[in-house]
Amino acid sequence: MITLTDKIALVTGAGSGIGAAIAECFAEAGAIVFASDLNAAAAQQTAARIIQAGHRAESLALDVSDEASCLAALKTVNEKHGRCDVLVNNAGIGHVGTILGTKPEDLERLWKVNVLGTYQLSRAMLPGMIERGKGSIINIASILGVMAMEARFAYTTTKHAIVGMTRAMGMDHGTTGVRINCICPGRVRTPFVDEMLRQYENPEDYLRQMEAPHAMKRMAAPSEIASAALYLASDAASFVTGSAMIVDGGLSAGK
Ligand SMILES: NC(=O)c1ccc[n+]([C@@H]2O[C@H](COP(=O)([O-])OP(=O)(O)OC[C@H]3O[C@@H](n4cnc5c(N)ncnc54)[C@H](O)[C@@H]3O)[C@@H](O)[C@H]2O)c1
Repeated sequence: MITLTDKIALVTGAGSGIGAAIAECFAEAGAIVFASDLNAAAAQQTAARIIQAGHRAESLALDVSDEASCLAALKTVNEKHGRCDVLVNNAGIGHVGTILGTKPEDLERLWKVNVLGTYQLSRAMLPGMIERGKGSIINIASILGVMAMEARFAYTTTKHAIVGMTRAMGMDHGTTGVRINCICPGRVRTPFVDEMLRQYENPEDYLRQMEAPHAMKRMAAPSEIASAALYLASDAASFVTGSAMIVDGGLSAGK
């Protein structure tokens, strides 16, 4: 039985999809969860659901692309609990297009949230974890962090950067007791995917196309990614750092 009893966990992008599932899963495993999101109302809803289920959570408005917002989150967590044991950098945004269909401002927008956001919050939280000699940082990358797919230029670029950042941090801080890992999910049925589907003329056809490359011929449920995060956050993963854990229903197995 994997538990996170009394661990302090901060989850970004917890107002929706995978982040909400991770926040709920961690709280169920005994953690005190800060459900944070750019969308403060959505973060509040996640925290309210967790509390309603009899577990512990608080909500936090946090824009990961803004350094001041990341430092303010660090301050809030430290003031309330004196530490952060687990950080999940989940907040992320997508874009459809080849390099020719990607304007500089598109790439910059994704870079700021997906890469700088992960960097800024990790950089803020890491010193405290190192000082205490323990902690777990989990970055939600994507299977497009280790392979490419048509017309996902900006997204693939930023997700590869997250995998690189995870490996670099794992190497640099391997002896500190802090473990840094990322998860590379295949498709997960969340509002993120629903938003992408809306960009296509025939969403039903595209939905089937999205499911087809997985060996399992389906998308993941957000809870299936949360289970992987729970493992990485816990002491059960005590020898796991710098890794890119693939949770993709076999999408990349035949590549
Ligand atoms: N859904 C998938 O198929 C899939 C697959 C692989 C990886 N991922 C990754 O998983 C993560 C979560 O995806 P999801 O599908 O749950 O998305 P989602 O759109 O359902 O949720 C993302 C959340 O992040 C928040 N957010 C956006 N910008 C933010 C910012 N600047 N600061 C803080 N919060 C911000 C949004 O408000 C939203 O609540 C993303 O990093 C995504 O790239 C998703």
